Amino acid sequence: MDHAEQISHIKTLLARLDSGTNVDAGGVRYNPTTAYTDRSLAAIERREFFDTHPQLVGLSGDLPEPGSFVTQNDLGTPLLLVRSPSGRFRAFVNACRHRGVVLESQARGRKRRFACPFHNWTYDADGALCGLPKSEHFGELDRDDLGLVELPAAEHCGLLWVHPRPDGVLDPEALLGAELTADLAGWDFGALAWLGGDAYSVECNWKLAMDTFGETYHFPVLHVDTLSNDFYGNVQCYDEFGRHHRLILCRRVIEEARQRPPSEWNITRYGLPVYWLFPNVQLIPSREVLFLVRAYPHPDDPGRHTSQISFYLRPGIARDEAEIDFFAEASRGFGTVIRDEDYVMSASQQLSANSGALEHVVFGRNEPALHHFHNTYRAALGQELLELHPTA
Ligand code: FES
Ligand SMILES: [Fe+2]
Repeated sequence: MDHAEQISHIKTLLARLDSGTNVDAGGVRYNPTTAYTDRSLAAIERREFFDTHPQLVGLSGDLPEPGSFVTQNDLGTPLLLVRSPSGRFRAFVNACRHRGVVLESQARGRKRRFACPFHNWTYDADGALCGLPKSEHFGELDRDDLGLVELPAAEHCGLLWVHPRPDGVLDPEALLGAELTADLAGWDFGALAWLGGDAYSVECNWKLAMDTFGETYHFPVLHVDTLSNDFYGNVQCYDEFGRHHRLILCRRVIEEARQRPPSEWNITRYGLPVYWLFPNVQLIPSREVLFLVRAYPHPDDPGRHTSQISFYLRPGIARDEAEIDFFAEASRGFGTVIRDEDYVMSASQQLSANSGALEHVVFGRNEPALHHFHNTYRAALGQELLELHPTA
C-alpha cells in the first residue's frame, strides 16, 4: 500500500471517528441460518472451495531453506510441502508410492531424504524415489514413475499456493487480481520468518469463523477487556478486490496522528489491515508480525471446523532469542483472544443455527464484509444472492 493510500485511509478513519460514522453497506441483508448447517451445502463447499480449489497453504518463511518441509492434513489430500535443493517450492501428496503410508509424519523440519516408516522406501526433496530396499523383489520397476505425486505449487507475493489436484490449474495472480497482487506485493511477505502456530478445533461452521473477522462492531462489547484497549470499535475502512476484501481497523493511538504531519503517518501504526482471501483465509499484517488464519470445514459435520493459525516475524524486529519469544507469545496471545472470545461466540451462533429456531441472522449496514463474503461464495456456487434491504 503506497503512502498516499495510507494517508487517505488514516484520514477516513479520523473523519469517521469525528463524525461517529462507519463504513455503510447501504442496507441490511438477511442470511439464512441453514448456510451454517445444511449438509448438502457443506459437501458442495468442500468440493468446490477446498478439494478442487487452489489453496493458500502458508508463507515463503514456512520453508526457509533447501530441504525445509511442512506437512498438512487440512484438506482431503495429505500435503508434503518442500523447498527443493534448488530453492524451488514444490508440493507433493504425502503418501508413499509403495502401499500408500503417509510418508512424513512430522509437522515441519528439514531433511534431505524422506523415509517411509513401513518398508523404508525413500524419496529426495524433489520427490524422486531414491531408495528401495531389496528391490529385486519388485523386478524391473520404472523408478521415474514412482516418485511422489506432485501437485501444482507456486510462490506468489511471498505466499505459498497449492492446488490439491495433480491436474488442477493454479494461477495465483489471476485468483487475486492485479490490484490486490500489487497491494500484497508491497508488504514483502516473502521476508517474514515463521514464528509459531496453533490449531483450534471449534464447534462452528468454517464460515462463522470467517464472519468474526468481518466487523469491529463487537469490539467494545466482546473484547472490552482485550482488543478494545488498543482499538476503537465500529470504525473501519473497507475495500473489495473482486472475490476478496480488506478491512482496516482503527488503533486508539491514531489520536497521535492529529498532532503529526501526514508525511509521518503509517497505516500499521494507526491501523490494522485485515485481508480476507477467498475462500478461507485471513491475513493480518502488523508492524512486527503477520497473523494468518486458515479455516477448514470438518469432513462431514457442517457444525465443526478447524482454524489453523500461524504467525510470522518481520526481519529486523527482534534483536535476540528473548525478543523473538516475546513476539511469539504476543502472537499466541492474540490467537487466544480469537479462540476464547470470538470463537466462543461462533460456537454459540452454531448452537442456535443447529436448533433451526432462527430462520435467518441480520448483517448490519456497518458489516459490509459479511455481505460481501456470503454473497461471494453464494455467487461462486450459483446460488441466489442475499438481497439488500435499504434502511433509512
Ligand atoms: S508403504 Fe512405504 S515403503 Fe512400503
Ligand atoms: Fe473479534
